[in-house]
Amino acid sequence: MSEKNVEIVALVGSLRKESVNRQLVEVAAANAPAGVTVRIVEGLGALQFYSEDDDPSTAADATLPAGVAEVRAAVAGADAVLVATPEYNGTIPAVLKNAIDWLSRPFGAGALSAKPVGVIGAALGQYAGTWSREDTRKSIRIAGGTVVEEVEVGIQTSKLGEQGVSDPAVIEQVVAAVNRLVDEVTVAA
Ligand SMILES: Cc1cc2nc3c(=O)[nH]c(=O)nc-3n(C[C@H](O)[C@H](O)[C@H](O)COP(=O)(O)O)c2cc1C
Repeated sequence: MSEKNVEIVALVGSLRKESVNRQLVEVAAANAPAGVTVRIVEGLGALQFYSEDDDPSTAADATLPAGVAEVRAAVAGADAVLVATPEYNGTIPAVLKNAIDWLSRPFGAGALSAKPVGVIGAALGQYAGTWSREDTRKSIRIAGGTVVEEVEVGIQTSKLGEQGVSDPAVIEQVVAAVNRLVDEVTVAA
């Protein structure tokens, strides 16, 4: 592995305080290998809905809305991105899609450009949010990110036992996902 610290930022697709997806990222952070940090990008819920009228890359008189620059800088400065998202009505939660839209601009030069991205998630239904992860990957790809397809964790929340995300089997999957993402960074370095 490279001696450089690997910085992974995480986008969480749920704003819920007790979010299982947030907890998955916390597991990723707590169990990250030496030399790897995992940090949640906060503030996604405070971003206003994307509009080309409010985007300086499409409207000359626009000023970037509050929080967008910080979220973009966090992602742009990271080596890789971990997305942890539930499924809402069969697809990506709006808060995550909105963040991806802001991160996708300026067109062709957004913060996700060429960034390795792994998508994991937890959802209630029997397919554990598979549609949401698939749609998230599609959107990230179109936004310029490099989706690491082998990163795949889908936790069915209704099947979580008393230990919740502290279940060793869950931790093992999350650690494997982070390791795969780190491999992508270090191989590319
Ligand atoms: C508006 C809404 C829509 C949902 N739609 C789905 C769905 O399509 N598929 C699914 O598996 N779970 C669905 N759920 C359940 C979420 O997956 C579940 O609440 C999940 O734990 C939320 O993630 P969190 O714990 O990170 O907040 C939905 C929940 C909400 C609030």
